[in-house]
Amino acid sequence: MSAAGAVPREFEDLLTPAGRRLLDGSGDACGALADPRRRFLALDGMIAKGRADALRKALEARLLPLLSPMATPIPPETIWEMERDYEEWLPKTVRVRTAYLERKRSAAYRAAEAMGVIDLLRSESLAVFAERIAGRRLDRRNGQQALCYGPGDYAGPHNDHHPENKRAAQGYLDLHLSLSSPAVAHQYMVYAKGGHFTEMVPVHGLGTLTIYRLPFWHYTTPLQAKPGRDAAARRWVLLSTYLYAGNGRSA
Ligand SMILES: [Fe+2]
Repeated sequence: MSAAGAVPREFEDLLTPAGRRLLDGSGDACGALADPRRRFLALDGMIAKGRADALRKALEARLLPLLSPMATPIPPETIWEMERDYEEWLPKTVRVRTAYLERKRSAAYRAAEAMGVIDLLRSESLAVFAERIAGRRLDRRNGQQALCYGPGDYAGPHNDHHPENKRAAQGYLDLHLSLSSPAVAHQYMVYAKGGHFTEMVPVHGLGTLTIYRLPFWHYTTPLQAKPGRDAAARRWVLLSTYLYAGNGRSA
């Protein structure tokens, strides 16, 4: 299959029969995140493995050379400028590579658009799928991003709250499609429930979907490669961010 043919323009073309049932409005996950006690859902078995692998290979071929490093390390002053015991304070830390799809003139955006990744992430069936899980209507003007975690790449504890954006300040929805290479041993998403980081789910599947009803505290553990396979160990994440429909005026 050509790289271009590997990227469907509609999300529904990636789905298994179970995924299509959810898209059609049946299945256990419908309305899962409408439950006020639930912030997060991980779904396997929704994306056809063969299609997921073709999509992953297309990203490897076309987008890998166009990724930009994103690194926000631990500031040394968080230790050496502390004045009182037990007053540690950690801002958001992260190391990952990203394709800046918000910048339409970037080479990464142009490549993603030519491949069909932008159409896929903006597709109506993806928005409907996310709506089924959210249990509420979503604004179709979503944001898109592509991330690539290599060995040791991670995201430290953060909550993704955006109080400065009027429409996002009351919450919003993220849907992530994970596409890991066979060289990845593991990577986990840890999140808080009841004020403690008690929850941990694997996100290194091929075609794992994770849906976040943000904001809430979470972090992503450093990606671990299988022994001797660092060079090929990558987890791609295609990410779509939705505001809720009718949630105030445009910010
Ligand atoms: Fe996050």
